[in-house]
Amino acid sequence: MANLSTNYMGFDLKNPIIASSSGLTDSVEKIVDLEKHGAAAIVLKSLFEEQILMDVDAQRMNNIFDSYTEAEGYIAFYTRRNALNSYIELIDNAKQNTNIPIVASVNCSSSEQWIDFAGDIQAAGADALELNVFILPSDPTVSGSSIEQTYLDIATRVSSAVSIPVALKVHHYFSGMANFLTELSNTGIKSLVLFNRFHQVDVDLENMKLSSGNIYSSPASNAVVKRWLSILSGRVNCHLAASTGIHDAETALKNLLLGANAVQLASVIYQKGPSVITGMLDEMNRWLDAKGIENVQDIIGKLRQADSIRPMAYERAQFMKYFSDVR
Ligand SMILES: Cc1cc2nc3c(=O)[nH]c(=O)nc-3n(C[C@H](O)[C@H](O)[C@H](O)COP(=O)(O)O)c2cc1C
Repeated sequence: MANLSTNYMGFDLKNPIIASSSGLTDSVEKIVDLEKHGAAAIVLKSLFEEQILMDVDAQRMNNIFDSYTEAEGYIAFYTRRNALNSYIELIDNAKQNTNIPIVASVNCSSSEQWIDFAGDIQAAGADALELNVFILPSDPTVSGSSIEQTYLDIATRVSSAVSIPVALKVHHYFSGMANFLTELSNTGIKSLVLFNRFHQVDVDLENMKLSSGNIYSSPASNAVVKRWLSILSGRVNCHLAASTGIHDAETALKNLLLGANAVQLASVIYQKGPSVITGMLDEMNRWLDAKGIENVQDIIGKLRQADSIRPMAYERAQFMKYFSDVR
């Protein structure tokens, strides 16, 4: 049996599989079950700034506080405290009932809010913090550079405000990806998580209404992750975690070979249950044994562009040869 242990953000993980932030990680019972089935670390469901603000708005709707701004301020503070307290309780319970790293996750859109949450989360005993930042570049009046600056500010300010390792989970809607993600890796963060997957917009043709796309990823959506892992590994100054479209052991191994220090799973666990982790670990072991590789750590980044003798192969974008061959 090969040794599956890996290092991620300074933690010695028993294997490279992490349960991704989602509804799968929002209670201590689910977390304990994920650990039982082999998850090497857990990223808790994000604490959303939006969710907290919505709670406050719902109270406002009651119309009680219209003329009592002090009371409104108190309720806003109380509601936020309450959401934070439940999250802190989850961290505490998860820590007491497991023996694996517990990574908290917060979603905010301003660096001020992040810092407030980060300090409390560290004090609650989280082993690490994953920042789930999502600013969709949809406002035509906001430049790409100003959005990027917000990400840089958040990463810099949070990682200097806490002593626990900080990861930043990003999307892939940036221009100058390699340059920008390298800049982010110099802010003090310990990992970049490539990439978050968001609610997809779709259309219900029958009723001509906006609808929701598939909540779960498909294995095909891992392609963009593989591309950027291979380009960034060995060039950024932090670890890389792969997220999106990892549904089997083969894909997990490919992501490790291209530079992921760990892989995060959500959709496949939703679809097949936590035991899918045990099956994937067995299969990874079988592949390593068949190849005569003793430590999974030895394959990490083995196929990255930085060490390749044919670096251009990673940047091939057009189907030129394919089209010229097809008659
Ligand atoms: C139902 C659901 C809830 C999610 N909630 C969160 C969340 O709270 N915070 C977060 O950072 N990512 C969240 N995600 C994204 C996942 O953590 C993950 O990055 C994404 O689903 C891609 O991985 P997958 O292909 O294994 O699903 C959620 C995903 C799903 C499907």
